[in-house]
Amino acid sequence: MAQYDVKICCMGAGYVGGPTMAVIAKMCPRIKVTVVDLSQKIIDAWNTGNKLPIYEPGLEEVVAVGLKRGNLVFSTKINESIAEADIVFISVNTPTKTAGIGAGRAANVKNCELCARTIAEVSTSDKIVVEKSTVPVRTSDAVRAVLEHGAKPGVKFQVLSNPEFLAEGTAVPDLETPSRVLLGGMQTPEGLKALETVVNVYANWVPRDKILTTNLWSSELSKLVANAMLAQRVSSVNSISALCEATGADISEISRACGTDPRIGPKFLQASVGFGGSCFQKDILNLVYLCESYGLRECAEYWNWVVQMNEYQKSRFSLNMVRSMFNTVTGKKIAIFGFAFKKDTGDTRETAAAFIARDLVEEQARVHVYDPQVSRESMFAEFKYTLNLSEETKPGLGELVVTSPDAYSAAQGAHAIAIATEWDEFKTLDYKKIYDSMAKPAFLFDGRNIVDAAALREIGFTVYSIGKPV
Ligand code: NAD
Ligand code: UGA
Repeated sequence: MAQYDVKICCMGAGYVGGPTMAVIAKMCPRIKVTVVDLSQKIIDAWNTGNKLPIYEPGLEEVVAVGLKRGNLVFSTKINESIAEADIVFISVNTPTKTAGIGAGRAANVKNCELCARTIAEVSTSDKIVVEKSTVPVRTSDAVRAVLEHGAKPGVKFQVLSNPEFLAEGTAVPDLETPSRVLLGGMQTPEGLKALETVVNVYANWVPRDKILTTNLWSSELSKLVANAMLAQRVSSVNSISALCEATGADISEISRACGTDPRIGPKFLQASVGFGGSCFQKDILNLVYLCESYGLRECAEYWNWVVQMNEYQKSRFSLNMVRSMFNTVTGKKIAIFGFAFKKDTGDTRETAAAFIARDLVEEQARVHVYDPQVSRESMFAEFKYTLNLSEETKPGLGELVVTSPDAYSAAQGAHAIAIATEWDEFKTLDYKKIYDSMAKPAFLFDGRNIVDAAALREIGFTVYSIGKPV
């Protein structure tokens, strides 16, 4: 039997728990990592090694290392795995509350509390409990209280905060060479000792100067602020894209001109149809709610506008489509290229594509969607979860929205194409062939500014890009 220096259990085998733990197992042969989840289906998929529950470039290879070596285990044996662990990560979903106090803004930390209750109940030895989920500042107080009140006699817990900064589509490089690892803990001798233990895990592959340690509250809050600042850059550039369309300036030229200033930097200045993903909106609303809770109305309003601007950008895109197509899309076939919230992921949570499809379907258009990684099942789950759009609320939805096997069949006979996700394959399609197969005039609305608009106009397309002259 292999002897391990440290045993880790991670509760939650989702987009964060799975990749993060797979990288720890790969980088630390002397650590045993067990990832547990309530869902047998998800655990079974991780154990296949090649039909993982999420699509993430390079992830299969990383998972294979741990599974083959035996120090990475996916299991539904939650209690046993916690009991044998020295460190327990909580990496469960913390969605926006849909009912009760703070509904629509506050984060629901129910899953974190349930994890803490389970940990307290089944632990017979001391443990370090690490919050990896994104949570409102001071959640660790609640986690600590639940652990302390539920602890068996003599069992001690230390709670740390270790928010995750990976982005989907680049999770593997983000985890293998992170910009930083953030760890927050109580500034007591026991808290500092626990911090050092987890610092030593990451120090197996992350340079020490990139492992930042702070107090608990700074760590929790930094995560919300990092996401809010990234999203704010996208909303800022998107707000200027509207001004560009009104004035004849070009948003790409503005992003380059501004991003070349090292104080501004070039990243996250790509104008788009609007940001999506499971976290930006959720985390900003969480921040807004926190500000409101502390009576900081102006601060709350300031951040809330980042979300409002995003809503505006999404609706502006659909509105422009309908207006440009002679104010009616009723009965027209429209192709949507891409449904994931960004390229290189199959994740559809909060994707702008769903909002565009919803708006077009409201106008009785026939929408044909092609995405290389999104199944029809996930698409309809997203319609239902985020937009309350289903066969019950919109009879005939299943016929109005068709999933196409490729971009060419999605565009065949269509009046327009809307590019919603920046998949690389959309840059190199045979647009002449596509144009010839479409109804005329053939429109293309590039929600990601990835195609060569001038070349497409040469072919005959009427092209609208974000923040660029028509
Ligand atoms: P997810 O929905 O993909 O995965 C969460 C998993 O936790 C699910 O599989 C669920 O079944 C499981 N779970 C829930 N309660 C459980 C319990 N009591 N015991 C065991 N398993 C349980 O979520 P995610 O995208 O991995 O996000 C997790 C957290 O990390 C969130 O707080 C999120 O804000 C944050 N985060 C996400 C990303 C991202 O890219 N998705 C990046 C950074 C941070
Ligand atoms: C984001 C952050 O980048 C991660 O650091 C963070 O850990 C994560 O949220 C999280 O907490 O969940 P992610 O949502 O996976 O990661 O992807 P991003 O690359 O940030 O893109 C978010 C959205 O913004 C996408 O819809 C993307 O297309 C859009 N975006 C991004 C733009 O429209 N323009 C840009 O310039 C950049």
